[in-house]
Amino acid sequence: MKLLKFIAYGLGVLVLAVGSFLYFTVYDYTMYPLKADKSKFPNVHTEADVEQLAEELVAQMTLDEKIEQLYGEPLSNAAKLGINLLYLDRFPHIYAGRNERLNIPPFVLSDGPRGARVSKERRGMTNFPVAMSRGASWDVDLESRINEVIAIEMRANGVNYAATPCINLLRHPGWGRAQETYGEDPWLLGEFGVAATLAIQKHNVMACPKHFALNSIENSRFVIDVQLDERTLREVYLPHFKKVVQEGNAASLMTAYNKVQGEYSSENRHLLTEILRDEWGFEGFLTSDWFFAVYDGIASVKAGLNVEMPFGQAYDNKIMKQAISDGQIQESDIESLVLGTLKTRLKYAFAEDPMEYNQSLIANPESVALSREAAEKGMVLLKNEGVLPFSHSGNKTIAVIGALADVENTGDHGSSNSASPYVVTPYAGINNYHFKLGNEVTLDNASDLVASKSLAEKVDEVILIVGYTYVDEGEFLVSTGAATESAKQGKLVGPKSDGGDRLNLKLRPEDEAMIQALAGSNKNLVVVYVGGSGIDMSAWDKNVPAILFAWYSGMEGGNALASVLYGDVNPSGKLPFSIARKESDYPYFTPYAEEITYGYYHGYTLFDKKNIEVAYPFGFGLSYTQYNYSELNVLTPELAEDGTVKVQVTVSNTGDMAGEEVVQLYAGFANSSVDRPVKLLRDFTRVALQAGESTVVTLDVAAKDLAWYNPEAKQWQVEKMPYEVYVGASSDKNQLLLGSFTIE
Ligand code: BGC
Repeated sequence: MKLLKFIAYGLGVLVLAVGSFLYFTVYDYTMYPLKADKSKFPNVHTEADVEQLAEELVAQMTLDEKIEQLYGEPLSNAAKLGINLLYLDRFPHIYAGRNERLNIPPFVLSDGPRGARVSKERRGMTNFPVAMSRGASWDVDLESRINEVIAIEMRANGVNYAATPCINLLRHPGWGRAQETYGEDPWLLGEFGVAATLAIQKHNVMACPKHFALNSIENSRFVIDVQLDERTLREVYLPHFKKVVQEGNAASLMTAYNKVQGEYSSENRHLLTEILRDEWGFEGFLTSDWFFAVYDGIASVKAGLNVEMPFGQAYDNKIMKQAISDGQIQESDIESLVLGTLKTRLKYAFAEDPMEYNQSLIANPESVALSREAAEKGMVLLKNEGVLPFSHSGNKTIAVIGALADVENTGDHGSSNSASPYVVTPYAGINNYHFKLGNEVTLDNASDLVASKSLAEKVDEVILIVGYTYVDEGEFLVSTGAATESAKQGKLVGPKSDGGDRLNLKLRPEDEAMIQALAGSNKNLVVVYVGGSGIDMSAWDKNVPAILFAWYSGMEGGNALASVLYGDVNPSGKLPFSIARKESDYPYFTPYAEEITYGYYHGYTLFDKKNIEVAYPFGFGLSYTQYNYSELNVLTPELAEDGTVKVQVTVSNTGDMAGEEVVQLYAGFANSSVDRPVKLLRDFTRVALQAGESTVVTLDVAAKDLAWYNPEAKQWQVEKMPYEVYVGASSDKNQLLLGSFTIE
């Protein structure tokens, strides 16, 4: 009896202990301030003082304290992350680098390509269209405004480190995480990356552009070895990273999971130190991608990786101490990594904030309106044979058809997921719109082709919603073991996770069948595509009169869709990637491989070079009005290597609706003595024009941005020769005016 009582008592104590542990460390965990307590550091006033303080703090640290700066939280805290993510449906704060004894505040990461993520409260935040939609807006000012909101919401949630923007290049449309980036072109990626980085950092949130580098395949990301030559690396896959470092002053970068030339990115000294720090002058700190990016901690210390995230696995205290005592690394190696991190993050911790941050700012009406503006500006009209815009009239019937027509579908459910207070589905947006007009909108979830067809034949307008969800594309979460085995066998081994790369570029068979069934059923038919990247439309695009790319368009997507379809908003988005006629026209791509070679050409540079006609060119998108380009005038026909080419062009809105046009400038290299692309995007701008209005647009490009990387000389070189300059509405040569200039 006594024994039983004793056991019961013991169990009670255990349950209580585990319960309070879980309650206080997992559920109601402590939140720590992110700013420096200036009263503890009365002599720190300037950035130079902060740098000196960082040195003093490192000098005061014990070896254990230094090692603790090398990772997020100890691995023993893993339950906080796991339970919150899996069971509480929230992403908790991981407090990296906090040192109470020395009064060093921590940094806390939140993902955020389409909205802030980490939050202890479980309320929705402003949910924006995915980055690919914003890339399609070609509106860098819009991207700045969006990222300011994301940063403000992060600060309101106690976060100061943003795992965004994602600026990996879209080499092939099948890439599962295409939606998180801005397109296929390094220039576009760089301009958007810089806008996002500067906007985030305005609010003293450190931006962490990712994933450095070459992370453009999802299913094999943990294992794949990307092979490429130095010139391809420098000219195609790194320019946008260089730009966020040099023009965006990025506080940090996140390393990638994949290998580059045989070494994991996190262990790659050529990338992390020789290029990034020694050549580009990066002064910030590097964190690893999460869990599976650092294998050999010693190699990563030597390569220059500052922090392993989210926990100390390879950067574990025991491993690091052993490596020092074995002489594999020096304590000073660790010191210099810690110093690099501290110098940067203390600057942010001491900086004055431009405003106060609180929960009332989250998803406020202005931010929600911005999400809608972004959705409207990102939509790309690919085909329109006199169908759109639909009229505003009352007394008509509308069918919204498709399995995704009334689904809250904002994109991937992996790291870029973000809770939203609500989501306006396509059907809800169209229905809201017609409610005012008194029109009848029928929702048809496409379960029966024959019924959908007979509905389509009866109504005045048919809006068919097709595309994907997080199940079809997105982050692919499998174990490293399964990823390794799948890569080895060249096919999936084990259960399929949601998301991942697309194995082919066609829509789901049900969608294709529905498009074919409805084609010809109604002259007022528009196919609206929801997804994150390019698709193969060759089986059906000729058969339908109108196609609109709406992307994963965020919390206000349905309302934005209605505004575009009914002409309250004139579409102005342009494709941030090329769509080939056949899948085999793209560079070789496979989701499951141990190794892949990335060639120098992809996207429009490949199609230009090989003279392959595309279905829809990079930079292409229609409007409800027409624009005419004339009088291309090169103001600087001759310039020196340090000069800037300036051109002017007249753009006229010759239709009868106001609109916005994205004007693009490409430089051409026909006279080069080396193998170079036919042309490369080097400037773009958006202009707003009333019906009948004309304007003169000035565009420019610095001669240094026309350089090629000479791998033998290990130098960027500007060729002295005549160049072409193309200006117009898309990368299609038939839509471009041609001029020339010479660099002497
Ligand atoms: C993703 C990163 C993300 C990190 C933290 C990783 O799986 O690749 O993009 O920032 O998780 O959520």
